[in-house]
Amino acid sequence: MARYIAAIDQGTTSTRCMIFDHGGNVISVDQREHEQIFPRAGWVEHDPEEIWRNTREVCAGALAKADLVTDDVVAVGITNQRETTVVWDRTTGKPVYNAIVWQDTRTDAITEELAGLGGGQMRYHAATGLPLATYFSGPKAKWILDNVEGARAKADAGELAFGTIDTWLLWNATGGPDGGVHVTDPTNASRTLLMDLDTLEWNEQNATDMGIPMSMLPEIRSSSEVYAHIGARGALAGLPLAGILGDQQAATFGQACLSVGEAKNTYGTGNFVLLNTGTEKVMSENGLLTTVCYKIGEQDAVYALEGSIAVTGSLVQWLRDNLGLIDSAPEVEQLAHSVDDNGGVYFVPAFSGLFAPYWRSDARGAIVGLTRYVTRGHLAHAVLQATAFQSREVIDAMDADSGVPLKSLKVDGGMVGNELLMQFQADILGVPVIRPVVAETTALGAAYAAGLAVGFWESEDEIRNNWAQDKQWDPAMDEAERERQYRLWKKAVTKTFDWVD
Ligand code: G3P
Repeated sequence: MARYIAAIDQGTTSTRCMIFDHGGNVISVDQREHEQIFPRAGWVEHDPEEIWRNTREVCAGALAKADLVTDDVVAVGITNQRETTVVWDRTTGKPVYNAIVWQDTRTDAITEELAGLGGGQMRYHAATGLPLATYFSGPKAKWILDNVEGARAKADAGELAFGTIDTWLLWNATGGPDGGVHVTDPTNASRTLLMDLDTLEWNEQNATDMGIPMSMLPEIRSSSEVYAHIGARGALAGLPLAGILGDQQAATFGQACLSVGEAKNTYGTGNFVLLNTGTEKVMSENGLLTTVCYKIGEQDAVYALEGSIAVTGSLVQWLRDNLGLIDSAPEVEQLAHSVDDNGGVYFVPAFSGLFAPYWRSDARGAIVGLTRYVTRGHLAHAVLQATAFQSREVIDAMDADSGVPLKSLKVDGGMVGNELLMQFQADILGVPVIRPVVAETTALGAAYAAGLAVGFWESEDEIRNNWAQDKQWDPAMDEAERERQYRLWKKAVTKTFDWVD
């Protein structure tokens, strides 16, 4: 009898398949990294075919590792890096260009041009909940149509398809050129600048502004329903694909932030704080995004306020790969322990400009406060603290927008194993930080969405009951010191502005 749910978690640096049991426990994981392609400063690409190949491999790998067969699994959910954009030929199944990754800043001129049509950076804010920024998918698709020879004509002729990574994978898994199903969910669609937040439908005017034919766009379905069954091309053949959630919304779901006022912070390549605001959308006045949190089948959509931070975990990778100061990412904690504090150094990693709450594409990274006293250890502190300070900035914005200060913060993702960072996060926020037993909440959220669709889980209460606390960090820094350090951080941030001509 089938006993498990599989989740495909297609992230910025790797692809995983995880298999969960009814209690939300991890039974098996398989993972592959994919190449990060940096053709120029500010450009970041992935090879969509490599991602699809890795997806098939990890699905087969996860089954094999737990000695399971396809029939042991009831349904499959997909969660994915959001905004990353693929345009492909419907007949050949080949992408016309690499995937343009969410961190890529090449659409700066396009976003300025769109802002110039009237309304400035907030031109699409009322309809989509988003400011115009290089982060989002629509302008990335426009860049491909404008720059790849022959793409515009093919798009106009209905020969090309657009998709975020969920859509690309689902289309391939369900047949590709031979009848692949072209769908997405509202959490991914809400990151394109093309979806209307109230109707959950594509906004024709926005698509026209960006020169994107409506025929390229996938159908927007819910986040939890059976879209189609996996075809012979995919591992897990024959199983229903029954859930799609963008990875940050999936983590919110997996953290059981299912009631108004509940929030989580995921520490991945970047950091993303999401606050469940219920079926009412709250428009931010403090630089946050309004986004769809999830839509379960026929139920009303639930919205979230989101603070998106582009560079956090990837700063540790940069320390490893570009500076060679550490050999592996976890070593950063050891290096930081070689000294007591940051030695007066602040590191603002504005590598992709600054996202929330600033939305400045003219910013670039800065390390300030350097003296001859400073060592590698101080730099390691500054790197870790950058994640905590940036999280504080978006949580302050959230408190201001919602009028209700956060009382505690649920955390998950790769960096929550870092004790030094978690303690500093509690110190700099002044509220407890709480880690669940299953910190793989992104994949778990996608599994829940798929499992709810096929009746493997009956209700959201079962999801709440599965959540259990592992560890809590309480603030130990005094108020004056907290505010002194935060003031210096804010000052450091201003040094990154106006850097791009
Ligand atoms: O919006 C980008 C986000 O979805 C990427 O998440 O976990 O792949 O860094 P992650």
